[in-house]
Amino acid sequence: TEPLRLGIAGLGTVGVGVVKIVRQKANLLAARTGRPVVITAVSARSRDKDRGVSLTDYAWEDDPVALAQRDDVDVFVELMGGHEGSAKDATEAAITAGKDVVTANKALLAIHGQALAEQAEANGCVIRFEAAVAGGIPVIKSLTEGLAGNEITRVMGVMNGTCNYILTRMQDAGLPYDEVFAEADALGYLEADPNLDVGGIDAGHKLSLLSSIAFGTKVAFDGVELEGIQRISIEDINQAEDLGYRIKLLGVAQLTGRGLEQRMSPCLVPADSPLGQLKGGTNMVVLEGDAVEQVVLRGPGAGEGPTASAVMGDICDVARGLRLSTFGVPAKELEEAKPATSNSP
Ligand code: NDP
Ligand code: HSE
Repeated sequence: TEPLRLGIAGLGTVGVGVVKIVRQKANLLAARTGRPVVITAVSARSRDKDRGVSLTDYAWEDDPVALAQRDDVDVFVELMGGHEGSAKDATEAAITAGKDVVTANKALLAIHGQALAEQAEANGCVIRFEAAVAGGIPVIKSLTEGLAGNEITRVMGVMNGTCNYILTRMQDAGLPYDEVFAEADALGYLEADPNLDVGGIDAGHKLSLLSSIAFGTKVAFDGVELEGIQRISIEDINQAEDLGYRIKLLGVAQLTGRGLEQRMSPCLVPADSPLGQLKGGTNMVVLEGDAVEQVVLRGPGAGEGPTASAVMGDICDVARGLRLSTFGVPAKELEEAKPATSNSP
């Protein structure tokens, strides 16, 4: 059988996690997909960095665009991050060259996803991005496959591990913001620009992707009403606790009579509810559909293993020949709702 040949751009937290799984689980992956899954080439900024995993079997490209265009690459795996520059250029180059793309890059997709999806559709390629929303939780697969028979009525949840980690550690250990921020960094949760996390932007990116899939609408990150956690103090957390509530950075997307409403902001949730009990870097996504009513998914939202797990799920789907486009193309044109006035879910 023909192997599925991967070109991996980005060998940081997630990229190294993917390399480890491909190297350590070759037999399992071949058994699950019916063909060998191999890495042929890799790229990162520094060739000399010790990444704790052997890369000597793979061709090296300094330029991710060159990696994306290689004849011995079937799937371009984009794990660099950023919505401009190399990630965008190399993803476009991969699609132009007819390669399928697997990415964890929510920033790129929230901003350019619609254009990339249309370009991919025109070139007969697929873009898959399970890892981009809620890390290790297979939430996109649940929406597109398991819940395919539903009209989705609402999606909501906690989708940024860093913010949940910071809020729960401040609460449980009474530690100051700066100290728990450093802990989250050490755990590999943070984006290259941490303001994306604490400003609610990263979670907003994820919500916009999820709502596009749930409602078959164009990705509309501009329409997400956003507020981060930077202004939350220990006093706020303690006051909420006294009233029986916890503060969570919560996203909600739903179709209303006024159009698509998307909001990501700190909310009070009952302390004894599943959302209130959510600790550390864990994410929770609630999917509501007309037939299923409500499904709650909970799991690790960030970090090497969980994120690489989601990337590998997409790679395995491509290896199996699944050609489903995740985005709705053509997507419905919907008017965005005006920003809501309340922060309660
Ligand atoms: P890291 O910062 O750990 O790694 C980024 C990698 O990309 C590094 O290896 C870096 O090279 C390489 N890189 C950056 N710019 C270039 C460039 N111009 N050319 C070649 N290589 C480049 O990021 P993560 O692994 O944490 O994240 C990767 C992606 O996954 C991001 O889109 C992120 O949002 C997403 N993601 C991350 C999660 C996590 O838990 N970390 C969870 C879900 C999604 P070098 O090492 O040489 O500097
Ligand atoms: N920085 C992100 C988070 C990584 O903390 O959730 C996972 O997308």
